Amino acid sequence: LSICVLLLLTAYLLGSVPTGYTAGKLLKGIDIREEGSGSTGATNVLRTLGKGPAIVVLLVDAFKGVTALSAVNAFYAFKLMPLPLNWQPWLIAGAGFAVIFGHSRSIWLNFTGGKSVATSLGVLLTMCWQVGLGTGGVFGVVFALSRIVSLSSISGAISVSLLMILFKQPLPYVLFGVTAGFYVVWRHRSNIQRLLAGTEPQIGQKVPTEE
Ligand code: G3P
Repeated sequence: LSICVLLLLTAYLLGSVPTGYTAGKLLKGIDIREEGSGSTGATNVLRTLGKGPAIVVLLVDAFKGVTALSAVNAFYAFKLMPLPLNWQPWLIAGAGFAVIFGHSRSIWLNFTGGKSVATSLGVLLTMCWQVGLGTGGVFGVVFALSRIVSLSSISGAISVSLLMILFKQPLPYVLFGVTAGFYVVWRHRSNIQRLLAGTEPQIGQKVPTEE
């Protein structure tokens, strides 16, 4: 069981790596949590630091998700895992949640962080690439129509559990879809308030109210 805790803790710490925050400090000497939407995610990095840093942060944050799950798979592949094979999907789902939780509640940032969208995408692509691509597709369509990142992320998050069912994924993955989907929507509370008030900015516009 200690191996379980170790894997989940590692996934959490990996998610905690403060990519966007570090980019802000290194490139502009700012605390990105005091800029724009206050998120450390790629969207706020784009707003605050520009395209190049945003792409790097997006890729690194997604990669955190890929790595956390690949670690679990590697343990099984190299026969280092003492737990039975039917635990694998549960461990994958647990590591998936731990890494996205770490991203938005980073131990290095007083439990603040991003909204877990990029990291979730990395998790989904590793868990079931069809669901990952499908979620990316939902995001893409909503974004093309609205030009609003948060609305696209929320739509993507809601679609995950449905896509898991559509692609006949095991129960732990469906549960991950429901929990992570709900969590990501919940992380967008302030965006939802702005969306309802009609003040959520499109990409390239300024965030009207700071958190
Ligand atoms: O990935 C986060 C995005 O959905 C919203 O970010 O900075 O506009 O709140 P932000």
